[in-house]
Amino acid sequence: MTILDSVDNEAASGAATASAIALDDRHVAHNYSPLPVVAASAEGAWITDVAGRRYLDCLAAYSAVNFGHRNPEIVATAHAQLDRLTLVSRAFHSDRLGPFARALAEMCGKDMVLPMNSGAEAVESGIKVARKWGTDVKHVPAGQSNIVVARNNFHGRTTTIISFSDDETARRGFGPYTPGFRAVPFGDAAALADAIDENTVAVLIEPIQGEAGIVVPPDDFLPRVREICTQRNVLMIADEIQSGLARTGRTFACDHWGVIPDVYLLGKALGGGVVPLSAVVADRDVLGVLHPGEHGSTFGGNPLAAAIGSTVVAMLQRGEFQARSAELGAHLHERLRKLIGHGVLAVRGLGLWAGVDIDPALGTGKQLSMGLAERGVLVKDTHGSTLRFAPPLVVTAEEIDWAVDRFADTLSQARP
Ligand SMILES: Cc1ncc(COP(=O)(O)O)c(C=O)c1O
Repeated sequence: MTILDSVDNEAASGAATASAIALDDRHVAHNYSPLPVVAASAEGAWITDVAGRRYLDCLAAYSAVNFGHRNPEIVATAHAQLDRLTLVSRAFHSDRLGPFARALAEMCGKDMVLPMNSGAEAVESGIKVARKWGTDVKHVPAGQSNIVVARNNFHGRTTTIISFSDDETARRGFGPYTPGFRAVPFGDAAALADAIDENTVAVLIEPIQGEAGIVVPPDDFLPRVREICTQRNVLMIADEIQSGLARTGRTFACDHWGVIPDVYLLGKALGGGVVPLSAVVADRDVLGVLHPGEHGSTFGGNPLAAAIGSTVVAMLQRGEFQARSAELGAHLHERLRKLIGHGVLAVRGLGLWAGVDIDPALGTGKQLSMGLAERGVLVKDTHGSTLRFAPPLVVTAEEIDWAVDRFADTLSQARP
């Protein structure tokens, strides 16, 4: 290849990237601000773009790709199920939903599963179940119930969910808002106890706040929330949509504190990075409040998703992903902590999930993410100057070292 050929190739690759981005720009609603990387294929922890450049994925689709891109076991299940049955709606039974629900319920130590699709739907469904439980079981007067949530929460983007968000960008212009929520500081069990009254039906929290910057609560917080909920006859709902399914080194983030919530909300990695699959998981005395016609979803629990979900649960039962996350997470945190004082202000998180606060003098989180992408590492900023490292759990120690070296280089080049 001559120098001119390689210049031509580079120009063609650049043109492919630019035209894909221009097409998105014209025809896709501008509700995200993606990095200028156009993925074309992926395997394991690596993404290849339309220009043929490879990137180490340190976002893992916000933890939906915990098991790696196109995990062979999950893809094999998907292929086999595609050749048999994909969708019947809940108007009929399928031979896939029951086994999936039993396996997931058993893994959670609960009786029943309400299958849905997106994470936000699982949260919406959890809120509906808690309100119905409040009416039918706790006998809260109709329309009077309240749910206690944490400040700086992130539970999704529906109208009800943004009603109890304190992110002004997520809320502004989308009112009127759904009433019935009370927010208390995350990690403050006393404030949470004070916010509960006789009409409180649930406490809804992320055990570790993801979008807020991977914020781990004080050690006594979740055990105290558990105690308070039991004492006051209030459902403890743990949104483990991002924190769950091995991301933190345990099956659930709640496991780190030995806490078992009344209701688990799951999503993202439950669909193996292949299909949207979410779930509300609880005992019969809670999920049993739903009767035919009171809730539903055409795609919820479809045979393709259920088959994939069964494989995901079987993979989690082996424990290897939790072990990898714990071991490699310790390594990631140790390496990142060494950058404190060299452009990094703080490192938080558990397992292969790290929130890294950058010295704002070095640039915004977005600018640093761009710098890292140019060096072949994909991360996403959150809240101005925090970067989140959450690679697929199939990443290796060498790949982590490589990514952290690129990060150190980005920080040193960004020095003012
Ligand atoms: C804790 C938590 N809950 C709910 C959601 C919403 O999930 P989805 O984007 O699938 O609706 C997210 C997404 O990031 C999340 O992190």
